[in-house]
Amino acid sequence: MRVCILGTGYVGLTTGVCLAYTGHQVTCIDPVAEKIELLRGGGIPIYEPHLEDLAARARGNLSFSTNYEDGVPLADVIFIAVGTPPLPDGSPDLRYLRAAAQGVGAHYKGEFVVIVNKSTVPIGSGNWTGSLLREHLPESNFAVASNPEFLREGSAVFDSLYPDRIVVGSDKARGLETLYSLYRPILDQTFPAPTFLPRPDGLGAVPLVSTDLASAELIKYAANAFLSLKISFINEIGRLAENVGADIRQVAKGIGLDSRIGGKFLQAGLGWGGSCFGKDTSALISTAREYNLAMSIVEAAREVNQRQRDRVVEKLQAEFKILKGRTIGLLGLAFKPHTDDLREAPAIDIARRLIERGCKVKAHDPVSMPRFRKEHPDSGVLLASDPGELAADCDALVLVTEWPEYRDLDWDSIGARMRSRTVLDGRLVLDAAHLTSRGFRCLGVCG
Ligand SMILES: NC(=O)c1ccc[n+]([C@@H]2O[C@H](COP(=O)([O-])OP(=O)(O)OC[C@H]3O[C@@H](n4cnc5c(N)ncnc54)[C@H](O)[C@@H]3O)[C@@H](O)[C@H]2O)c1
Repeated sequence: MRVCILGTGYVGLTTGVCLAYTGHQVTCIDPVAEKIELLRGGGIPIYEPHLEDLAARARGNLSFSTNYEDGVPLADVIFIAVGTPPLPDGSPDLRYLRAAAQGVGAHYKGEFVVIVNKSTVPIGSGNWTGSLLREHLPESNFAVASNPEFLREGSAVFDSLYPDRIVVGSDKARGLETLYSLYRPILDQTFPAPTFLPRPDGLGAVPLVSTDLASAELIKYAANAFLSLKISFINEIGRLAENVGADIRQVAKGIGLDSRIGGKFLQAGLGWGGSCFGKDTSALISTAREYNLAMSIVEAAREVNQRQRDRVVEKLQAEFKILKGRTIGLLGLAFKPHTDDLREAPAIDIARRLIERGCKVKAHDPVSMPRFRKEHPDSGVLLASDPGELAADCDALVLVTEWPEYRDLDWDSIGARMRSRTVLDGRLVLDAAHLTSRGFRCLGVCG
């Protein structure tokens, strides 16, 4: 099929590359000329494991452009994968979605196309997209569909090739049938697995949830809200564990082995960051408000998440009494390991609060420092080229992002460079007994 993807960010680019790999002719379009130039030359503008390798293998089926003319006019399926960042009132900013839908309406020249909202968009956006398209195209020439994305940054390619499920929603049967054909190689797992990313053992057919537009849109928000509250739940229990002297890691293991609960998203710590959970929970609350409904559980999950970040400053203040003049080193900037994405990253928030309290803040991250320099030029955070340099003259190190390389640092040499051997483990992944044996004082956000 001829596929056009509007937006070459984490979602659009991964979707485009995976669909090209499974045999479709894909044109990826983005207005940012710098990105398109890089992509044409075989580069990838984001850090996402395996994406560059897969794009190289799919190159014959992939093209890139800044111009809607190059992909929209005769496409069979057009994905809208533009950003939907939050506005100050918590509702998503739909200006990019509007521009994309209007661009499709103005440029489409064929007989029938399915326009798919892949971006996370508020319930009702499918109808809205339809109304924008009708300004340019007859109703019989298109179907609008919702195909929410569930990939995780850091394992986006794996999640796209081997998803837990694919959700498609449309109010037109032809729209659903087209998407079923498009995804058939993934649903039936008939594509050759890339050698660098083998198919998981026992993966058979991928479940397809085929539904109406509004249900597909709500599935995405409900999924993200549930994951957010699972994290906040374990963090709330973590606070109690700290007070009663229980080990939250053991508690999480003990409840996570119950198959009704499951162990994933039960790691206590600094809480969630990233471009999705905060934005999507806030959009869900804002949609519910339009119907005079309160989303009390989701609101509580957001409050707990915010509190976890406050805890870092509180813990350091309790430890040092005076924060002014202290030097604090942050291990990790990205909102989670294996990505360079800094959107809503806890490290940025924590750094700002510490600087406001008179601390000098240093940071290190294995991949996101170039992006940090570009996106936060006035942060006041000093970047260190490695963890050893980060440790120099620090009163405390805070582990913010659980990059695997931070688990096995040479703590003797790190400690020798610090002003005081204090570590706050924001992700509860360090070996506290080992650190204590090397003379460190270990603090955790939940114990
Ligand atoms: N990042 C994730 O992990 C993730 C996961 C699931 C869903 N989502 C959702 O997917 C959507 C995209 O997220 P992302 O992280 O890929 O965003 P992103 O900011 O990385 O990428 C968006 C891209 O769209 C481009 N763009 C803007 N206006 C455009 C237009 N009119 N036409 C074509 N391209 C345009 C931008 O230049 C940018 O490259 C959001 O709604 C997000 O909530 C994201």
